[in-house]
Amino acid sequence: MEHTAPKLEPAIIVIFGITGDLAKRKLLPALYHLVKNDLLHDKTEIIGVTRGQMSMNELLATIELCVNEKDGICDPVAVQKLKKKLRLRKMEVTKSSEYESLLEELNAIEDSFKVCMNRLFYLSIPPNVSQPIISFLGKHGLNKSCQHNKAKSRLLSEKPFGYDYKSSQELMDETKKYFKEDQIFRIDHYLAKETVQNILSFRFSNPIFQPLWNSKHIDYIEVMANEKIGIEGRVKFYEQIGALRDLIQSHLLQVLALVAMEQPDENSSESLHQSKVKLMAEIQAVPPNKVVADSVRGQYDTYLQEVDNSKSNTETYAALRLQITNKRWAGVPFIVRTGKGLSEKSTKIRIVFKPTDLAPHHNILTFRLQPDEGIELSLRVKKPGYSTEIQPAEMDFSYKRTFNAEGHPDAYERVLVDAVRGDHTLFATSDEVMQSWRIVQPVLNEWSKASDGLNAYSSGSQGPKLPESWKIL
Ligand code: BG6
Repeated sequence: MEHTAPKLEPAIIVIFGITGDLAKRKLLPALYHLVKNDLLHDKTEIIGVTRGQMSMNELLATIELCVNEKDGICDPVAVQKLKKKLRLRKMEVTKSSEYESLLEELNAIEDSFKVCMNRLFYLSIPPNVSQPIISFLGKHGLNKSCQHNKAKSRLLSEKPFGYDYKSSQELMDETKKYFKEDQIFRIDHYLAKETVQNILSFRFSNPIFQPLWNSKHIDYIEVMANEKIGIEGRVKFYEQIGALRDLIQSHLLQVLALVAMEQPDENSSESLHQSKVKLMAEIQAVPPNKVVADSVRGQYDTYLQEVDNSKSNTETYAALRLQITNKRWAGVPFIVRTGKGLSEKSTKIRIVFKPTDLAPHHNILTFRLQPDEGIELSLRVKKPGYSTEIQPAEMDFSYKRTFNAEGHPDAYERVLVDAVRGDHTLFATSDEVMQSWRIVQPVLNEWSKASDGLNAYSSGSQGPKLPESWKIL
């Protein structure tokens, strides 16, 4: 298990947006867990950047720090250790001179430990603020470590990477002025989920499925992320983003690529990304004249009230039917869909196999990303006894049962560990991000023109009905 990951080299982790939602819900609990499991180097320091005047105790009082623990209980010794490592820094992030003193602080930490450390800048902030911060970091030399070729300066950033194709390209271009691609870690926390990592292992380590993984045997593939929660107070963020950008452009297209890509030539991060981006380039952007037929959008019924905007056109549900234009997948629809305010949390990939004349049922291979992570295969079996009746049954692999695990590392722990050790495998490259914007851009364009076609659905329901023509089981 990755809990036994090698101890990391010393690092200074600077978190922009330490009082934000993500830092409180995910990053700080992940850091606590890493400290508790003694994975961070003793000399690692964490600087939380905030605009306000918050004390450490005030910040920690607003956080459920130990949610990742099995019993949910904090170990007081580990909390003290985390507090010792963490310092808050009040900073006006749009003021150039503030970066001079940030640099001085980093140098002083390294001087006191007499070591050149990896520097990690974690941007847990909205995209419009990221861009100036990246430029300031670059202009003030924070894109370099304290000694040439010793340790590294790295940028970790959270989606959304831009707002559309054009703004994403601008962000990438601006970032490239100061940070090389191998210094940039674009987080997609889905890639760090254990079940998502298992997609490739499952596909390429089980030869029985390899001859079946194509249009001859597969009817369609569905990647879905249904959420019970609504927008949870993130009004400003969500009003600008909507479901298509929030989940499909980012997480679900990455997952789809892992399901459909060819086996990488080598077992390396570069080779994996090459294979993934090749596949993404083969996903057809939905043509404008097919947006109506190949997409569905919806909004849950209490949304307008929640965001206090009776005219909001923002979708809380989005579904696309995509095609991949290569030999393996010609003619196989890929359905990607997501929604908030639905009846249950359920993130799944369903590989629906074709029936035959003699066996007129679909076998379905399902990857359960959450909850109850696992993989199941639906089969038909004879009912025991004198009858010859056939009935459905499941072969079911469950992480919980098989590994009886103390749990696996949370996605954010994995993200932090991999960024400190410089492993890009579970991060999105700029080419991948641009490909996924290319795929969704025509839909964004069409949807922005008019709100007709935005289906209202009741909170707690299954969401809007998908078109009959999609033939989803
Ligand atoms: C985030 C989205 O990226 O993923 C959220 O911004 C969403 O809106 C979340 O709720 C879902 O993540 P998970 O891991 O709960 O499926």
